[in-house]
Amino acid sequence: MNIRKVVIPVAGWGTRSLPASKNIPKEMLPIYNKPVVQYVVEEAMRAGVEDVVFVTNRDKSVIEDHFDYNPQLEAVLERAGKTELLKVVRDVAEMVNIMAVRQKKQLGLGHAVLCAREMVKTEPFAVMVGDDLMFGDDAGLTQLVRVASERDMPVIGVMEVPADKVNRYGIVSGDEIAPGVWSITDMVEKPAVGTVDSRLAIVGRYVLTPDIFDHLERIRPGQGGEIQLTDALASLARERGMLAVKMGGVRFDAGDWVDYLCANIYFGLMDNKLSESLKARLREILC
Ligand code: UTP
Repeated sequence: MNIRKVVIPVAGWGTRSLPASKNIPKEMLPIYNKPVVQYVVEEAMRAGVEDVVFVTNRDKSVIEDHFDYNPQLEAVLERAGKTELLKVVRDVAEMVNIMAVRQKKQLGLGHAVLCAREMVKTEPFAVMVGDDLMFGDDAGLTQLVRVASERDMPVIGVMEVPADKVNRYGIVSGDEIAPGVWSITDMVEKPAVGTVDSRLAIVGRYVLTPDIFDHLERIRPGQGGEIQLTDALASLARERGMLAVKMGGVRFDAGDWVDYLCANIYFGLMDNKLSESLKARLREILC
């Protein structure tokens, strides 16, 4: 299985991030010195993906612009001899091929993925949720692409969550067929606490086969009246089988304020130029 395309849905309202996301897409809010979605695209590049399909809405064109050239800004930087910054700005434009498709009504994550059908056509593809950050050696999409290629099956990323938080996620159950790899037997979106034994939560990374689109077209609106990706995944898993892979590394949900703030500190601490003064300032604040 060769994965060349990734679909990144970024068309949601971002209500948890208001008022910051009133006029700036939450996927464009900065985590240290880059917008959230740039970390997601960089992870896709590390996994060898060449084409990015953003599922956007009328207010999100700034996301596509971020991955394009900005001739005026580049000319200013060039004239000022700011060659390092010029490279940083141009590198973002040259990262990957960008395509975009509109989700005209926000009917849920599953519906957003379905909107990309004409772009993806008939090849296997990845889906990355545009506000979910994964970081660490060999973490994220690379892990899923490897397992999907080895086993020639659709694969979804999972992480273990505390039993009292299962109601925030899609939860999968299955048989562990290799360390950290499960053959999925069941999947349920946001189950009530205490109603499931499994604590394996679906996080925003998937490698899917194009037959998922038929399942997305068939399913009825689920939780919250939305077309749930989890419902279509459960249907695909029943029909052709699907694996869950325990993801390594750290994850931040940029739509959650605690995670968002921690991600800023995490990426700040990873920059040698900043880490010592950041630690000193944090110590002052925490005392
Ligand atoms: P979320 O549920 O986290 O995003 O969806 P949201 O709906 O934007 O945010 P809140 O809950 O109101 O704060 C995960 C991803 O799926 C996209 C979002 O943009 C986000 O990146 N999404 C969600 C869509 O593209 N379309 C939708 O209809 C829903």
